[in-house]
Amino acid sequence: MCGIVGYVGYRDCSDVLVSALTKLEYRGYDSAGIAVFEDNKISVAKSKGKLKDLVEKMAAEGKPQGHAGIGHTRWATHGEPSDINSHPHSGAKVTLVHNGIIENYKELKDFLVKQGREFLSDTDTEVVAQLLDYYYANIKEPIKAIIETTQELRGSFALGIVFEDYPERVYAVRRESPLIVGVGEKENFIASDVPAIIKYTKNYYLIEHDEIAVLSHEGVEVFDAHYQPVTKELKTADWDVDAVGKCGYPHYMIKEINEQPNAVKQTVAPRIKDGMPCLEECSITPEKLRTIRNIYIVACGTAMHAGMVGKYVIEDIARTAVTVDIASEFRYRNPIIGEGDLIIIISQSGETADSLAAMRLAKEKGATTLAIVNAMGSTIAREADMLIYTHAGPEISVASTKAYMVQLSVMYLFAFELAYAKGKFDEEKLRYYTSKLESMPEMIEKVIAQTTEISQKISTKLMTADSLLYIGRGLDYALSMEGSLKLKEISYIHSESYAAGELKHGTISLITSEMPVIAVATQSALYEKTVSNIKEVKARGAKVIMICKENCEVSKDIADYVLKIPCYEEILLPMLVCVPLQLIAYYTSVQRGNDVDQPRNLAKSVTVE
Ligand code: AGP
Repeated sequence: MCGIVGYVGYRDCSDVLVSALTKLEYRGYDSAGIAVFEDNKISVAKSKGKLKDLVEKMAAEGKPQGHAGIGHTRWATHGEPSDINSHPHSGAKVTLVHNGIIENYKELKDFLVKQGREFLSDTDTEVVAQLLDYYYANIKEPIKAIIETTQELRGSFALGIVFEDYPERVYAVRRESPLIVGVGEKENFIASDVPAIIKYTKNYYLIEHDEIAVLSHEGVEVFDAHYQPVTKELKTADWDVDAVGKCGYPHYMIKEINEQPNAVKQTVAPRIKDGMPCLEECSITPEKLRTIRNIYIVACGTAMHAGMVGKYVIEDIARTAVTVDIASEFRYRNPIIGEGDLIIIISQSGETADSLAAMRLAKEKGATTLAIVNAMGSTIAREADMLIYTHAGPEISVASTKAYMVQLSVMYLFAFELAYAKGKFDEEKLRYYTSKLESMPEMIEKVIAQTTEISQKISTKLMTADSLLYIGRGLDYALSMEGSLKLKEISYIHSESYAAGELKHGTISLITSEMPVIAVATQSALYEKTVSNIKEVKARGAKVIMICKENCEVSKDIADYVLKIPCYEEILLPMLVCVPLQLIAYYTSVQRGNDVDQPRNLAKSVTVE
């Protein structure tokens, strides 16, 4: 939810921290701050607003000068975005930044107030700073004080810490919230995520729960919660600086839309052997698949919408019942699951609090968990029984596009493999569908080229709307959900997705000439029925934008604008149709002058309930 960074090295620390934070701003962007050792004293600069506001403030007032320090970009949870609530927060000798939530901060604060401690901010983080300072005042040894403090904390945290008595050292510790240590040449880093440090080094350690890292000019040491040294395995990120830059695109979102063909190739190609899906490296074998009783797909937001497409496909071809659940509902509805059930958790970040909790609940109840995750080494990826990594590379834009696309591709791979394992596909059919999936990257590329201009035109018609409706049936309905979410999250235009056949049971009363309707009708078996529903809204004055296959004849009395996509294997069409839906959302947001990559009130990774 927030991003933390830290640096010890030979470069200008303020510059490194700011540069690293720009790559974490997707995690939160309502305030930012840094703390740097300047002549052995800790110098803090912080500001409400985006990182650029902090940079402007430092340009006007002077930036801290030094070679070691910590930084933070915030998504407010405790206390409004303000200069005072911005991190870093300090005690007398301790200054720290925090990503996560301290659940027992109130009782800790009461205790500290009784000890005579005063608080400036409304944050849970300042409580941690004061508590650590309290222990440090007695113990006078940073690591022991950190251990004492973390034993008292309930909730999630990744902390970057500096002690005034220990200049040129950065300490870090985590529980639940992600933390990596970047290892460079004569310089070391901490960060919430690898993109922050990739400009400086590709080598990093994954820090485990309650481990404590100490960065100095001499190197990195890691200790466990008993103050015992830990030997870490050095990992290497397999993508480069371009993967985390805009590469000439005006926004990450449009860059990521254009990266989709390659993302699908990277995700699908390694999982196809001799023309058939092979998920054995992810511990998924036909024998295991045959033992599955029911499937639950549990996720949030866009990832859940990928699961909706998965449900339609799996039930259709593998004839296995699939329930799709919103993770925040699943975890509290006492789900009837157990041995023999497969719970598929889909998550780009692998850190979404509700999805993680849902997965842990499923494990507790004896179900088998399969995670489909993009972020390497994330908590969901590490805790799942089985794991399929999607290889979309880093997704920086808050609005998810390429992650959704690769999640779809994995849904298909899984569905094909399951259909074969359950005897619903013979080898010929399996090979046929697999080859169709393998060719998707070229098809997606074609659709991006074909639909960009028309999506742009359509968005000029939508940009003044107050509200709109997405309708479809079957797979097209599942897709409409994602189209609608994408539009509303970045354009701030209210929209809803509706099963086209359900409209006349109430919602059609909303239709006026002021409410555009985007109708998705790509599935032949449902085409006539959807057209009937389109006529119903048209008759009530709606302007209709219809998305259909290129062989459909659509007359003026059905749709005002028609966006056509190539004819292809119908079951795979969601991977093509999502492209214009993403483009329409993108261009509408651009034309309304919104901050496309960092929409208001949101953060990319939702690590709180
Ligand atoms: C998508 O555009 C969203 N911003 C959001 O719905 C996201 O998909 C959701 O928060 C789930 O995140 P995850 O995939 O990282 O778990």
